Amino acid sequence: MALEVIRSIRAMQKIADNLRMSGKHIGVVPTMGYLHDGHASLIHAATTVSDAVIVTLFVNPMQFAANEDLSRYPRDFEKDCRIAEDAGAHFLFAPSVEEMYPKGFATTISIDGITQKFEGVYRPTHFDGVATVVAKLFTATKPHIAVFGQKDYQQTLVIKRLVADLNLDIEIYIQPTIREPEGLAMSSRNVYLSSEQYNQALVISKAITLAMNSVQSGNRNREELNSILRISLLTLENIEIHYAAAANAETLEEPYMFSENDSIVFLVAVKIGSTRLIDNAVWNPN
Ligand code: PAJ
Repeated sequence: MALEVIRSIRAMQKIADNLRMSGKHIGVVPTMGYLHDGHASLIHAATTVSDAVIVTLFVNPMQFAANEDLSRYPRDFEKDCRIAEDAGAHFLFAPSVEEMYPKGFATTISIDGITQKFEGVYRPTHFDGVATVVAKLFTATKPHIAVFGQKDYQQTLVIKRLVADLNLDIEIYIQPTIREPEGLAMSSRNVYLSSEQYNQALVISKAITLAMNSVQSGNRNREELNSILRISLLTLENIEIHYAAAANAETLEEPYMFSENDSIVFLVAVKIGSTRLIDNAVWNPN
């Protein structure tokens, strides 16, 4: 079936109602476009757990701060359609900014706690924007299932909190991070990197691997784990570290020592030149 592009919320809701009435399970994959293999893997995963797959494509102004890259965020609509269709999507919901935020729009969904740390420190309004737009994308597409990437780890916690707190009847699937062969996590923002910066950015996944090895060999001291991350990131001179930290993978708490049965997440955000990159890995006991 060819990919069907839908621009209006009302049309999307009608399609979703009809799909539901005919007993189809709807899977949604929210994206901001400029799709790559990471997005494709989420779309493919959605095809395995639902009958009708909707990819949403919306560069959401509400989750960008004034000093961020909204206006230069990369876009390629034709290529996105091709990638979404090849990965198995049936519908592409691509509303305009005016459709999503018409004159008079005044609602913000604000999630407390987990949103205050890490990304939240550097991007204080970011997760309000994410939570609000994802809630709107859910009410437009009426999914049974929604698929997100572990690449944006804190975002996955925010979405799970949103779904639990608002009683949304949607099952959330998290898919592993897809990487370039050299280890760099795929990201739409990687196009900003020069080839020299691309090579420098490989230090991120290397640092995380070293920290993962240390926890695997029994290290539960948070400061020591953080030092492993920082020391290897700082082998690069022109890197600006926003955070490089081990935290409890469920709560993002930062105890002095992790306990034996804690899942631990290593969260990294750095700037290389003017490009901000994030990555993470989760270590689970046994
Ligand atoms: P975007 O950055 O386009 O990412 C869309 C989805 O793709 C997210 O769930 C993200 O975690 C996932 N993703 C990105 N890179 C990935 C990779 N290398 N491997 C696997 N999955 C990857 O995240 C957003 O858009 C927005 O915040 C959104 C949720 C759409 C709300 O506007």
